[in-house]
Amino acid sequence: MTELSAEHGAIASLPAPVLVVDHPLVQHKVTLARNEDTTTDNFRRLVKEISQLLTYEATRDLAMETVSIRTPIAQMQSPMLSGKKLCLVSILRAGNGFLDGMLELLPAARVGHIGLYRDPDTLEPIEYYFKMPDDVHERLVIVVDPMLATGNSAVAALNRLKEAGVTALKYVCLIASRPGLRALQNAHPEVCIVTAAIDEELDEHGYIVPGLGDAGDRLYGTR
Ligand code: URA
Repeated sequence: MTELSAEHGAIASLPAPVLVVDHPLVQHKVTLARNEDTTTDNFRRLVKEISQLLTYEATRDLAMETVSIRTPIAQMQSPMLSGKKLCLVSILRAGNGFLDGMLELLPAARVGHIGLYRDPDTLEPIEYYFKMPDDVHERLVIVVDPMLATGNSAVAALNRLKEAGVTALKYVCLIASRPGLRALQNAHPEVCIVTAAIDEELDEHGYIVPGLGDAGDRLYGTR
């Protein structure tokens, strides 16, 4: 795993880290997902697998407690996750392709959904749906969306969650654009971002270059 700090700045004032999960399995699967010849069913499976591998890193610092259990052989003290469960928040619709895999690893997690669409002219996010568990403000919230492109939707989603009282946030994506990362870090410097890749550019429509195309279309076979 590569840990990138902010692009400039002294250690003392660095924003939360950007974790680029450079594990060979992740990188291999990202290459397959990027390939335009990858079929919808394979793309969906790959996104699910990558989301699970990213979840492994995104949850590395969860709080633990020691509990007393009895194995068939002996009594022992053993570690378990402690505290309130997580809330996973999917930015619709491509976020749902991430959610499925993450929920297999975190079956007790609560789930929220945020619907945002990009105004095609301004690329600004417009909210059309927001549904969270009542106690979302008491949970660690992991926001998921495969593509961090302009960063506008990510920033809007985190703004909205903070308005709802959420204080502990992480952001997990498959590919982050450099401009999107910058925008997200500027707006929410304390939020740790976990990604499998960073691509340098966006095109004039706000797509990540080289990216993988429209993640929602590739997940759901629309186009
Ligand atoms: N959304 C996508 O699905 N792909 C991009 O490249 C940018 C935004």
